[in-house]
Amino acid sequence: MPRSAVAIALPPAEYAAVSSQIIEAGYEPIEVRTADELEKLLNLRRDIGVAILDGENDFDRTLEMYSLLHDQGRNIPALMVVAARALDRMGLAGKARVNDEYFTRPYSAESLRWRVEAMLIRAEIPIGDSSSSGIIQSGPSEPAEDIYAPAAEGPRGQIVIVFNPKGGVGKTTIAVNVAAMLQVRKGQRVLLVDCDTVTGHVASSLGMENTRTVADAWTEDLNTGMAESFAEIAAMHQNGVSVLVMAESPLHTEILEPKRVAEAITTACRVYDWVIVDMHPDYGPLNQVIFERADKIIVPVTPDVPAIRAAVQFREVAVELEIRERLAMVVNRANSGVSVADMERTVGMPALAEVRSAGMLFVRAANEGRSAVERFPKEKVIEDIETLCDRLMATRESGAAKSGQGFMGIFSGGRNTNPSMRAS
Ligand SMILES: Nc1ncnc2c1ncn2[C@@H]1O[C@H](COP(=O)(O)OP(=O)(O)O)[C@@H](O)[C@H]1O
Ligand SMILES: [Mg+2]
Repeated sequence: MPRSAVAIALPPAEYAAVSSQIIEAGYEPIEVRTADELEKLLNLRRDIGVAILDGENDFDRTLEMYSLLHDQGRNIPALMVVAARALDRMGLAGKARVNDEYFTRPYSAESLRWRVEAMLIRAEIPIGDSSSSGIIQSGPSEPAEDIYAPAAEGPRGQIVIVFNPKGGVGKTTIAVNVAAMLQVRKGQRVLLVDCDTVTGHVASSLGMENTRTVADAWTEDLNTGMAESFAEIAAMHQNGVSVLVMAESPLHTEILEPKRVAEAITTACRVYDWVIVDMHPDYGPLNQVIFERADKIIVPVTPDVPAIRAAVQFREVAVELEIRERLAMVVNRANSGVSVADMERTVGMPALAEVRSAGMLFVRAANEGRSAVERFPKEKVIEDIETLCDRLMATRESGAAKSGQGFMGIFSGGRNTNPSMRAS
């Protein structure tokens, strides 16, 4: 992934704190004090991914700098630091772009770093991408083309959905912790999507209530004529995972047209390595199009009759939808007495991994707005999550997931390595 430089026009004390965070994130901070300096820099270097501007002090200079970001076909997003009371006056003389972001003083340098990282990820959306913001494509864009090109011609991200038509089997728990594991410990770029518009609690379990939802954004877009991508709408959790909630209320979801949602998920695969989707337990039209797009479908099953029955039903539906070979069971609360081999036989699905019962750990982590991966990194159950992620990544590397026999092979490979997990 191409590393970008960040132009920073902040007062010296703030520059010191912010630049060290930017360095820690692996980007190069470059201080600019005047519009002239910024102009020289932009002429010299093509790898400036974001400019942090001071929207509170010396506003004329800031406006001049802002214009330079869009001169000569450039389209460099600005992160504008402003005072909270000034936020609603920040129209930038009618020139503000959709990929700009605002940040209010006082701020912590670390939270600003997360913002910059997210912006740099989004900036990698290819310019010709019709489903990202229309404004990104305006104007001559040739000079910036190589900067914004997708990171090599590498494989696109994988869509992993977590589904079982029964509630309470651990879909949300597994989605949240797999996302965190891939991002935090495996260095992957992850988008976690809460597609459960009825009972979804991804955001609340990560302490991210009141985030802007896709339903909010797309409704606003009707007025502005924009079309924001998932990467633009998502908010970043402190663990680095981009979190996206489809809707806060089950009543206002008409805007979430299934085909459009599916397209947006597919587009997100260009900027994320993994798109993890937590689903509502139903077979409605939204879920059906998402099933169709999925590379892998994780089916958490707890060792009890209702959950097993539900999984059997889903397997039969999957045959009809011709997605059966993407299914992989994750036996959740695996240490509660039923053998995994028996579950594989009964459900008719290969098990990808097992996750043991973790008592209150998941609930305690959620109470603190974190995943158990960050909160309890040394616990055995987190090893289980890690094994699950390693196997997911292995299916991706071998390309086995699409071959129709991927999961079976992966699991038999890993099965013997973890005999302690066998239920007695
Ligand atoms: N392996 C586990 N160990 C302990 N508690 C778990 C485990 N898996 C899930 N839970 C708990 O079970 C409840 C239901 O899980 P959840 O992920 O919300 O299920 P779903 O999304 O399928 O409805 C939650 O309170 C969760 O913390
Ligand atoms: Mg759930």
